[in-house]
Amino acid sequence: DTHNGKASRIRYKHTQRHLPGCLIIGVRKGGTRALLEFLNMHPMIQAHRKEMHYFDNMDNYSNGLDWYRKRMPYSFSDQITVEKTPAYFTSELVPERVCRMNCSIKLVVVLRNPVERAISDYTQIHSNKLVRGRPHDLFEDLVIDSSTGEVRQTYNAIRRSLYHRHMEHWLRWFPLERFHFVDGDNLIRDPVAELRRVETFLHIEHKLTHSDFRFNETKGFYCMLEDGRERCLAHSKGRAHPKVDMPVLHKLYTFFQPHNDKLFQMIKQTFNWSL
Ligand code: A3P
Repeated sequence: DTHNGKASRIRYKHTQRHLPGCLIIGVRKGGTRALLEFLNMHPMIQAHRKEMHYFDNMDNYSNGLDWYRKRMPYSFSDQITVEKTPAYFTSELVPERVCRMNCSIKLVVVLRNPVERAISDYTQIHSNKLVRGRPHDLFEDLVIDSSTGEVRQTYNAIRRSLYHRHMEHWLRWFPLERFHFVDGDNLIRDPVAELRRVETFLHIEHKLTHSDFRFNETKGFYCMLEDGRERCLAHSKGRAHPKVDMPVLHKLYTFFQPHNDKLFQMIKQTFNWSL
């Protein structure tokens, strides 16, 4: 952490705190932490490691832009400051607020198979509330309305996977060219390929290569290599998912298909999200 001014306690000469030039706005459980940490290995990137919740939380937002800027890391003027808060993607008031700061800001969305994402979201929700004495709600019971047999669109893990509904709000404020969509499923398998596309989008040199990563067999994911030392993401990244009932899985894939198609039309890009 010496060659590019990434050591957070040290302020290098000629550095200042800059507002983000790029936001990773979502999606929750898409692989946003992996993307931010990976990008931060790039010499032209200064990532803010904490989720700021500036634009989606009124208490934070009311502190104003200078409060936000002062929380950003020091950077050289040609570096890009990146902040990531996945709640931005699904929060209706956020697009306008971001545009009021900077309508030319670059927006990155890590998308993931919406069914996988919903299961991952459910797994996170349940790991957060290890509430004793509370009956363990099965994924199947939460996503399917028992009286109608239909998918419950109001369940947060489902709602957040209805990408086109959220994207619609963003496209009212930003043109499509401002966005880059990362294939979150591919980010797991081939981080370098996805990072190359992000580098292109951000107009920064292709610096991140296979020598920056090593596949960790135990974790089952790629980890970063920094000065020969392996750094994996926390245990909360890459959790085991519950095995979901086949009929429910089928129902979910059928349910999401028209929603996915709407998104693909909207963003003029497709993903292979079939079972
Ligand atoms: P799971 O825990 O469901 O596997 P986010 O950071 O947006 O919350 O996303 C978490 C997801 O990032 C994880 O979901 C995991 O699949 C994915 N991920 C992608 N690359 C990863 C990596 N190299 N190490 C760990 N998790 C990674």
